[in-house]
Amino acid sequence: MNRATILIALAAAVVGGSVALIMSAPGLLPTSGIIGTTGQARVGGPFELVKHTGETVTDKDFRGRYMLIYFGFTYCPDICPSSLQLMTTALEDLDEPTLAKVTPVFITVDPERDTTELMADYVSNFHPKMIGLTGSPEQIADAIKAYRVFAQKQKTGDGPDEYTMDHSSFYYLVGPDGRFVTHFNHGVAPTKLTEQLKRRLASS
Ligand code: NI
Repeated sequence: MNRATILIALAAAVVGGSVALIMSAPGLLPTSGIIGTTGQARVGGPFELVKHTGETVTDKDFRGRYMLIYFGFTYCPDICPSSLQLMTTALEDLDEPTLAKVTPVFITVDPERDTTELMADYVSNFHPKMIGLTGSPEQIADAIKAYRVFAQKQKTGDGPDEYTMDHSSFYYLVGPDGRFVTHFNHGVAPTKLTEQLKRRLASS
């Protein structure tokens, strides 16, 4: 993808009214794009976050298996639930040996409201293997930065809890070695996501 294509893809993926902001702020994007012209990905990296069960985990705890990561927030009215449902449907269509190779992960972009309790309750609505990750605002900010996620608070009223989060919406596939493999747009058909996962996980 060239830079212009990425701009359009990112803008299209953002929920809410920040498209103009993104179009006018190319500095938000990595200089090489999500996938540079050299084919080298500059997405992903180390993180330290808190699992929905309460314990601190790092990227190293997930080594040996693929991670399929989605960033969002539990108060999201529609995009996050439908994206996580799509991910669940795609995973349900994998056979057991293939499913055993991947951990679905939901990382919040709203650490202020998304407590471990809320994350535990939320992920229980989706695939039984799904892990919810939250953390301190700093820990989440680091993960967001590593994955080149766009996330921004939008006030909806005067109260401290009256806000929503605009955010980009991609699935990130990370390899058993912790390296970024590829990403899928949230609009991908579940059957296509299943097919892609089968193909990529079969060769490992
Ligand atoms: Ni959302």
